Amino acid sequence: MLGLGTVGSGVYRVLQSNASLIARKTGARIEVVKILVRDTGKSRGLDIPEGVLTDNPDEVLRDETIDIVVEVMGGIGLAREYALTALQSGKSLVTANKDMMAVYGEELFKAADENRCDLLFEASVAGGIPIIKVLKQSLAANRIEQVMGIVNGTTNYMLTKMTQDGSEFQDVLDEAQAKGYAEADPTNDVEGFDAARKIAILASIAFNTRIALKQVYVEGITRITAEDIKYACELGYVVKLLGIAKDTPSGVEVRVHPVLLPESHPLAAVNDVFNAVFVKGDAVGETMFYGRGAGELPTASAVTADVIDAARNIVHQVQGIIGCTCFDEKTVKPMGEVRTRNYLRLRVVDEPGVLAQIAYLFGENQVSLATVLQKETVEGKAELVLVTHEVAEQNLMQALEGFRKLAVVEEVCNVIRVEES
Ligand code: NAP
Ligand code: HSE
Repeated sequence: MLGLGTVGSGVYRVLQSNASLIARKTGARIEVVKILVRDTGKSRGLDIPEGVLTDNPDEVLRDETIDIVVEVMGGIGLAREYALTALQSGKSLVTANKDMMAVYGEELFKAADENRCDLLFEASVAGGIPIIKVLKQSLAANRIEQVMGIVNGTTNYMLTKMTQDGSEFQDVLDEAQAKGYAEADPTNDVEGFDAARKIAILASIAFNTRIALKQVYVEGITRITAEDIKYACELGYVVKLLGIAKDTPSGVEVRVHPVLLPESHPLAAVNDVFNAVFVKGDAVGETMFYGRGAGELPTASAVTADVIDAARNIVHQVQGIIGCTCFDEKTVKPMGEVRTRNYLRLRVVDEPGVLAQIAYLFGENQVSLATVLQKETVEGKAELVLVTHEVAEQNLMQALEGFRKLAVVEEVCNVIRVEES
């Protein structure tokens, strides 16, 4: 093993506590030979035999008796280097590292393929939820049309709290940090970067094409207010941060942003730190996979299952039979061409003719309105909540540009895309 932190400790515990069951399922006994850590003297609350911990990577990577390397140290520099060395030495690699897979997946798969070993990474997306194997194997008969998921537990917890308590973003973030749910630097989670890595991985597998991280449109939840959530609720929606990937005739859509989701959608009921991935296949129809997206034992469940698979493949000498599945070239649609419905909240001057000016600008840009609500008026300024019919992002942006020049529009407070299915 490379790493014995949260996930590594969980893997070690599961391998010990379920050892005989795992041995019977695998047809081989799995022994943890060496574990690379930074600090071999740290107290870890685990019963680890003398000589297993090391701070020398060669003791793992150059040991010819080791068949499987489990990378649970994180980061993309050393992790990539060690992962490549392991694969080039003919060792199967199991990793929980979404950052490494999203950036270096292609290179690692090439090394795995050339050396006929397994590269398994179930825990890299949605922790304990089986989704990568589902897409690669269980749903292999399907043309996957859509993968849409709540793949970040921190932001789902925050949006759930904002919905239930009517609290503002910053208050919930402070509380989540105090409880240890959100990291001291929450940028990766709240700005959507963590979810972007995960949806890049899922889209690549689902659509059999290589989606680079830079092709994912990303927008986080920092602009969501308690007011938006309240109005969404009045309109029959909940606000969720989704990773969305669609394979459409005009190109692949891959994006992460907050959405208004109908209350009746299966993902709308996924609350707190839970994750879920909703998949549509042409044969299977709609399916959804739900569970814990992080944490010691849920993540260890996925990592250990990959270790079992890799060990079973070694027993039967069939390593590397399911390698890289990105065999197609597909174009990613620019965000401007993506069509969605949209929720808009505007602060406008409350006087005759204002709605007419707004409606005119919408009409000029081919934006059609589905709902118009006038909310509270404070000191002569009214809050307007609008929902558009489906429109290309670029048309909506042009209309918004126009609003910014209208004297009667004080502020475009928020724009949130609406996802109906
Ligand atoms: P962690 O608690 O920070 O543990 C990292 C481990 O790696 C520690 O044991 C550390 O050694 C060791 N390590 C780090 N850099 C090292 C280096 N340069 N040389 C030697 N050892 C090094 O991390 P984690 O939360 O378990 O996450 C591990 C991976 O799993 C990451 O890729 C993460 O994204 C992924 N993941 C985590 C979760 C989760 O719930 N935590 C869920 C899904 C995926 P010391 O113990 O000596 O410091
Ligand atoms: N920070 C992630 C989340 C967990 O909040 O879901 C690790 O992927």
